[in-house]
Amino acid sequence: MLIFGGSASEVLAIRVARELGQDVSRLEVKKFPDGEKYIRVLDDVAGRDVLAIQSIYHKPDEYLLELLFLVNTLKDLEARRVVAVVPYFAYARQDQRFNPGESVSFEIVTKLIEYAGIDEIYTIDTHLHRVPDISRMFKIPAHNLSATRLLAKYVKENFTLRNPLVIGPDEEAQQWASIAAKELNTDHDVLEKKRLGPERVEIKPKELNARNRDIVVIDDIISTGGTIVEAIRGLQKEGASNIVVACTHPVLAGNALTKIYQAGAHSIIGTDTIPSPIGYVSVSPLIAEICWRQG
Ligand code: R5P
Repeated sequence: MLIFGGSASEVLAIRVARELGQDVSRLEVKKFPDGEKYIRVLDDVAGRDVLAIQSIYHKPDEYLLELLFLVNTLKDLEARRVVAVVPYFAYARQDQRFNPGESVSFEIVTKLIEYAGIDEIYTIDTHLHRVPDISRMFKIPAHNLSATRLLAKYVKENFTLRNPLVIGPDEEAQQWASIAAKELNTDHDVLEKKRLGPERVEIKPKELNARNRDIVVIDDIISTGGTIVEAIRGLQKEGASNIVVACTHPVLAGNALTKIYQAGAHSIIGTDTIPSPIGYVSVSPLIAEICWRQG
């Protein structure tokens, strides 16, 4: 399978290709003076199966359009199958019309992806609140993988935790907390979060079995850091010891990292779905496995 990485995921694509013992395929991406994107596929893809990796973070509109150009060009150049991996899938939160007149971005994006000609799509820890399964949003085969095991494995191998407890900062994080707890061979719990706005959350006090225990807080996304900061405060009130924070997608808007360290986190780790200073865990083995499964 040929591996292409869009400009949002160039390094990740190289890591995946290395896992598979091959080189990444060549792609030219540039911008015209007016800001338009230009894509040129430099390797022969006719009759080949192709994996196109492009995360949609920080500049989601631009990276999405580039993904659409890339896969449509690959199909046009007669690639046999194009499998897309979108490690961070933006737009998934707006999966319904919450207020009159809003566009349902998730639906529009899935239609565009299908229209571009992708045969199958993989995402990683996509923020699915109301949609239980990503395959319901697509007509093509769609899968949502999880990096939680990789994160938990990293924590296990790199930290000496005393009587650890895994905490999900809200109800949705239950799924990741339980997987991480299993990997760390310990128990888990979740906090109760109320979102007051895009940047403000409140974590309700809750009795936890956290006293004198090292804590691993695990979530899918750290965006503004508000959720994690509130979680840390709550855990400290409960007498927690060292707090290690782990997330799949380090969006890290503004000074999120500083805020979390200032709140008292011992360490913060993330994956490379989004390039960041905390990308200690690569999702490349997860993606390489897709290629092995495709044969
Ligand atoms: C929301 O439910 C997600 O799982 C994350 O907790 C959220 O995106 C984190 O956002 P922030 O860092 O801005 O609090």
